[in-house]
Amino acid sequence: MGKNKCAAVVLSAVLLASSFAYSPTFGTSTVQAEATEYKHAFDQKVIKRFKAERSMHHIQFLSEQLGPRVAGTKEEEKAASYIKNLLTSYGFDIEVQEFSIPDRLMGTLEANGNKVRVNIPTGADSTDEAGLSGTLYDANLGYPEDFTSEVEGKIALISRGELTFANKIKNATEAGAAGVIIYNNQEGTAPLNMSLGDYQASVPVAGITKVSGEALLNDVLPSNTEVTLTIERFENSTSKNIIATRTPKHVEDPDILHVTAHYDSVQYAPGANDNASGTSVVLELARILKSYPIDKELRFVFFGAEEIGLVGSDYYVNKLSEEEVKRSIGNFNLDMVGTDWDQATSIYMNTLDGQSNIVSETAVAAAERLDTPSPLTLYQRGASDHVSFYEGGIDSVNFIRREPGTADLEPYYHTPQDVLKYISEERLQEIGELIGASVYQIVGNK
Ligand code: BES
Ligand code: ZN
Repeated sequence: MGKNKCAAVVLSAVLLASSFAYSPTFGTSTVQAEATEYKHAFDQKVIKRFKAERSMHHIQFLSEQLGPRVAGTKEEEKAASYIKNLLTSYGFDIEVQEFSIPDRLMGTLEANGNKVRVNIPTGADSTDEAGLSGTLYDANLGYPEDFTSEVEGKIALISRGELTFANKIKNATEAGAAGVIIYNNQEGTAPLNMSLGDYQASVPVAGITKVSGEALLNDVLPSNTEVTLTIERFENSTSKNIIATRTPKHVEDPDILHVTAHYDSVQYAPGANDNASGTSVVLELARILKSYPIDKELRFVFFGAEEIGLVGSDYYVNKLSEEEVKRSIGNFNLDMVGTDWDQATSIYMNTLDGQSNIVSETAVAAAERLDTPSPLTLYQRGASDHVSFYEGGIDSVNFIRREPGTADLEPYYHTPQDVLKYISEERLQEIGELIGASVYQIVGNK
């Protein structure tokens, strides 16, 4: 983060503190002290009821009882029911918004008893349930001369680079390969996402990370161990958004605040931090904010299908009427707020344009009042549901824990290690109090 952004955060904190409803306008120290006390009393009302222990319980259920909650699967559906039932028990009327998700190919790759995350490009062939089993053939970059008759019936392992993906696959199949795996030549946690253009492959094809590719080359290939690639077509699937709304009494056309989290996860990842953590904190906020007087409309929205391209939030924002968009004040989006990774000492506020807005400014003011231990960092980043709100013209912030300076995420991100034991109850409490105080500052009827 540059100096300017840092200054912006501090500046907005000052501005907000001075425009905050309870800040003193008379300037005497007595009034000031009273005002401070009152503000604190107001915050206390919310934060003393926030119980991170309850959030931990939700994370336990979502990540351990259910495990990975991939969009369109029965586990994602069960997570939706869990959320809906809880909110109902808190006394909310719930709207369940069902939407279709794009048809896609889903793959699994098993090697040496390990599951490797893969991305299957449109245009790959699918397999039967048993999958395609075979030994690997090292085909370098996948030029025609990289193949000998040895590749016949094997799975060609090809590096990204120089040739188009379609050409690599064509060369492999012409030489008799039974399947193709392409690994990235650049670092990154997401498996290689390929576009084949119009090319229709006659064999199963998968993209993997550089790290996975190197592991296959070094640990699997030399022993001639068989790997199994399974590719399944997912068609006509649906996912759900769960919406719990509180409307103020006696306020016509109230402003609307959206407090959100996605509850789906990626394949193989139990998604304790990404994003049972955000889900669990928003659930707890919904519980405690159910009964306090408000003068604005408060919506708690739980999105499905975030991990396959923000599909749930996109659907939700596009369904808002023009009039609802006009009434919308902002969006607090919680995604990955509970990691215990010791380097993730800062609460990042990701906005799409890198600028502060009403949501980030409210959080900065609340952090000042509460003396929140973790520093807040304003940062430019998309990749979560706040993008959908931004695109709909609504101020939004994604709250996410990261390492200050580097903006690195914990190493468990999108892996089978994203589990409950790496969640910090203390950090859930911290973010719960911060967001609770911020949200109540906006919607509370003081
Ligand atoms: N929980 C992450 C949020 C995130 C935000 C990760 C910023 C890294 C940086 C989110 O669920 C996620 O994994 N997003 C995808 C992109 C999304 C559009 C599918 C990602 O960053 O790969
Ligand atoms: Zn994610």
